[in-house]
Amino acid sequence: MKIGIDKIGFYTPNKYIDMVELAHARNVDPNKFLIGIGQKKMAVADVSQDAVSMGINATLEYFNEIEQKKVGLLIFATESSVDQSKSASLFVKKALNLHPAVRTFEIKEACFGLTAALMTARDYVRSHPHHSAIVIGSDIARYGLNTPGEVTQGAGSISMLIKADPRILTINEGHSAYSDDINDFWRPNGFKTALVEGKYSTQVYLDFFKHTFESYKKEKNWSTQDFSALIYHLPFTKQGLKANRLAIQDEDKSVQDELSASFEASKQLSMEVGNIYTASLYLSLLSLLEHAELAPNSLIGLFSYGSGAMAEFFSGNLVDGYRKQLALEHEEEMFKRRQALSIDEYEKIFTQALNEPEDGVEITSDEVPGTWYFAGTQNYVRQYRQVK
Ligand code: CAA
Repeated sequence: MKIGIDKIGFYTPNKYIDMVELAHARNVDPNKFLIGIGQKKMAVADVSQDAVSMGINATLEYFNEIEQKKVGLLIFATESSVDQSKSASLFVKKALNLHPAVRTFEIKEACFGLTAALMTARDYVRSHPHHSAIVIGSDIARYGLNTPGEVTQGAGSISMLIKADPRILTINEGHSAYSDDINDFWRPNGFKTALVEGKYSTQVYLDFFKHTFESYKKEKNWSTQDFSALIYHLPFTKQGLKANRLAIQDEDKSVQDELSASFEASKQLSMEVGNIYTASLYLSLLSLLEHAELAPNSLIGLFSYGSGAMAEFFSGNLVDGYRKQLALEHEEEMFKRRQALSIDEYEKIFTQALNEPEDGVEITSDEVPGTWYFAGTQNYVRQYRQVK
């Protein structure tokens, strides 16, 4: 049975900052951010958008087109959780009015979380072939003002429908996983921003990539040239570029050209949005689908990395007609509606988001009608509403 990704929804908040302006404000050569890091813009979530509201908005992009009664599993992956106990997925389930028989929970292992959700969903569909699963990755990456990680922040969500006979990507059997208990990036209880050993984290990412990619090819008896594209978790696009260079360094020029071109296509959305942690790899996939011309059945290799650290390399094949499943117009509107923030405005929003909102105080949203937002807490219960 073929199982995989049938639909992809994407949401990013309505505000961003430009990397050239950030560079000027931080007294850095803009080319460091544009070329050295590989980012153009960074999405900024104000206090009215959190992991839950972004996850609802991403799912709504396709939710009305699917057979809702068949959804038997809803998994929410995040490292920007809104509660220590209750799953973010329950807020989503209520907003979507999903039936009560759905199995639903939250899952965590840093940026690997959405891959864990995807593989769990794949196994679920294998044993429940007439049902489908929704998996959501939703995050706000925050390192702190004036830190080396600041330029690698971002905000957004990807939601995917996983089912049998999918219309976008079939996931192949087999994978190569690798984990180790290390401290490259983490966010202790009570901290609103991540702690990171930046340079160490970038090296560990590459080491884990080399390990999983090589052992995957060995297990499958495949070579690099069998892949039409290799895509990566993109904390910032230069990180993926370095991994891609490692992957293709010993290949013929034609293979290098093909895999460089597909990598370019896969990084376009990340350059505009920034790091969205759990959803970053799948934002690369969406970007690849939108920006590359790939033949039906093309083999795509996917590298998932979550700090702490857990990595997995797996693959999928493109389904004929996949482009018909893309919501290109909706996405264009979403980018058009974004407003550029001044650095002062961004810093104010950032500082505000570091404090828990006062209980009982209503939060409003300047989003477009129909968008879900976090409206504050009532008796410490989170309220989510739709912009009228
Ligand atoms: N023009 C062009 N390039 C320039 C430049 C200029 N004027 N000035 C500097 N650069 C280049 C540097 O040469 C360097 O390039 P290379 O990496 O190719 O050597 C690059 O810009 C970065 O500069 P620095 O080496 O000075 O690094 P930094 O102190 O700015 O820190 C960072 C970079 C470590 C990535 C930091 O942004 C960070 O800590 N980010 C967060 C951690 C992170 O994203 N880690 C990724 C792996 S962990 C993961 O993937 C999980 C996750 O999502 C967090």
